[in-house]
Amino acid sequence: MKGVILAGGLGTRLYPLTKVTNKHLLPIYDKPMIYYPIQTLINAGIDDILIVTGGNSAGDFLKLLGNGKEFGLKHINYTYQEGEGGIAEALGLAEFFAGGEKICVVLGDNIIEKNIRRAAQAFQEQKEGAKILLKEVPDPERFGVPELKGDRIVSIEEKPKKPKSNYAVIGIYFFDATVFDIVKTLKPSARGELEISDVNNRYIERGQMTWDILEGWWTDAGTFESLLRANQLVAQTGANKL
Ligand code: DAU
Repeated sequence: MKGVILAGGLGTRLYPLTKVTNKHLLPIYDKPMIYYPIQTLINAGIDDILIVTGGNSAGDFLKLLGNGKEFGLKHINYTYQEGEGGIAEALGLAEFFAGGEKICVVLGDNIIEKNIRRAAQAFQEQKEGAKILLKEVPDPERFGVPELKGDRIVSIEEKPKKPKSNYAVIGIYFFDATVFDIVKTLKPSARGELEISDVNNRYIERGQMTWDILEGWWTDAGTFESLLRANQLVAQTGANKL
């Protein structure tokens, strides 16, 4: 399985921190943000990695990471997203890299305490479709939120005003190669973006979506509150534990 890190977008919610640099180069305690999703993939046994970057300072990723020697990698692949067309648009840029294989997609601002090895192994054995990870949160309206019936997800709503559960769909997704056909059929949402929740809903409609609960803490870091929280969590307990 290959790994894709989505680190495009303009990070406007963190302006002016992101006025001259890319959100994923900002510090989370003692490391740049992008280090955490890279480690998440490596800890899951995935070492063939593409970073989709964009916006400001895209060249700084290369200066910072090179070919990933610090992580024990031999090579890192990079590509560039123009503008801020959405998570699913950024994902679409990974089609050539994926080359028909299954992929694990990690949002560049998502940080986890533990690891996703169990889910990655389960997805390796899954014949087709997709797998998502859920985490109970106090503020589901900020995220993609699943509606659950028994142990089945019936749909996912993106940032619902009235969430149908207390779970967030976290920004770590497993997809088979058909994800790129799905992306090509998407239409921009009200916020003008191609939405990852629309991709996931397509798999749910096909009856091909599985899910798991993430162990340990999880946070994004795309707002001032969550950026602070991410720093505090990493400083207090550490991230990406094996
Ligand atoms: O953090 C989990 C949440 O991430 C999910 O629960 C939501 O369903 C999902 O839509 C997403 O929500 P956000 O609105 O918080 O996503 P955000 O716009 O902050 O983008 C998250 C990352 O995705 C960002 O750090 C880089 C990447 N991205 C985003 C956009 C809009 C891109 O690579 N390109 C883009 O155009």
